[in-house]
Amino acid sequence: MFSFKSLDSDLAKSLSCPGAPTFIEVQLEDLTESPFTDGESWNPTACVLPAKYQQFADKVRNFEVYEDDVWIITFPKCGTTWTQEMVWLVDHDLDYSTAKRVNLNRRSVYLEIGCIAHNLPVDSLANAANLPRPRHIKSHLPLALLPKQLWTVKPKLVYVSRNPKDVAVSYLHHYQMIMGYRGSKENFLEGLLTDKIVYCPQISHALDFWRLHNEQNVLFLTYEQMKRDLRTVLERVCGFFGKQYTNEQLDELVYHLSFDQMKKNPATNNVDMVAGAMQMNGRAGEKFKFMRKGEIGDHKTELSAETIANFDKFIERELIGSDFRFDQ
Ligand code: A3P
Repeated sequence: MFSFKSLDSDLAKSLSCPGAPTFIEVQLEDLTESPFTDGESWNPTACVLPAKYQQFADKVRNFEVYEDDVWIITFPKCGTTWTQEMVWLVDHDLDYSTAKRVNLNRRSVYLEIGCIAHNLPVDSLANAANLPRPRHIKSHLPLALLPKQLWTVKPKLVYVSRNPKDVAVSYLHHYQMIMGYRGSKENFLEGLLTDKIVYCPQISHALDFWRLHNEQNVLFLTYEQMKRDLRTVLERVCGFFGKQYTNEQLDELVYHLSFDQMKKNPATNNVDMVAGAMQMNGRAGEKFKFMRKGEIGDHKTELSAETIANFDKFIERELIGSDFRFDQ
């Protein structure tokens, strides 16, 4: 069903880190079941993942999907955690009591983390499978690698995109501190621009889901929309879930989901997850917060003018032929 190719270029070797020592490209070969109903052809691109994933690719593809599942799918660093908390609360009648008591990572499970994280012996597929229904499941996998039943069972699926330049900065910090990368910033950015970082290619990740954005079971959001006007996004999310809340309830939810509140909230700020990963990947005790800046345009402070221009060219080239544009 899949083919696997080891990545062993000098660049790939330089991107090795304790959390992901070696990489493969995973290519879906079986195109008999297409997620698309538009009649157009589909040529999924291979996805870069830690080599560990090879043992799990078929299991993920055959993961059983239920109609009442809720799937939150993003490229890394697009505001996944923020969206998970928003969606979980909207879908659970604003049950703040459970949301504060039970860590978000247990309410909304990261499907493939045990299949990619080098030192983490967790069976995340079983954890996701055994969640109480309605199951909330998060994944960063591209469309081609996700469970094929998603396209026949059609559960609710929320996709979030974010401008690749801000993703680059956020992912760089994540890669350094959570995955223990000690290579250069330049190599990491070159890795993104040549689609050699874990979960790349980044732009076709969004484009595949954009092609599905008019499907009834798909809600396509952007980080920037959430940041600019969360209240309006919440109304769309409530509509998608068939929920109605009062203005006061929505105001309270906007407050709960604000960067400052989520940063203070131990159920959402990922302090324990980050401490564990930093310990495992050789960064114990260093200064890093998962809830880092939470801004639009942070790339302007961290990327050179030349790198920004290179990203702009990369994005323009990859979007040729599509009506999709990243939010700014
Ligand atoms: P920065 O690193 O730019 O600060 P993910 O959950 O997909 O890993 O995304 C993490 C990014 O989302 C981080 O971006 C984080 O700060 C940001 N984020 C998390 N919660 C947020 C919130 N409530 N408001 C704004 N940004 C948030």
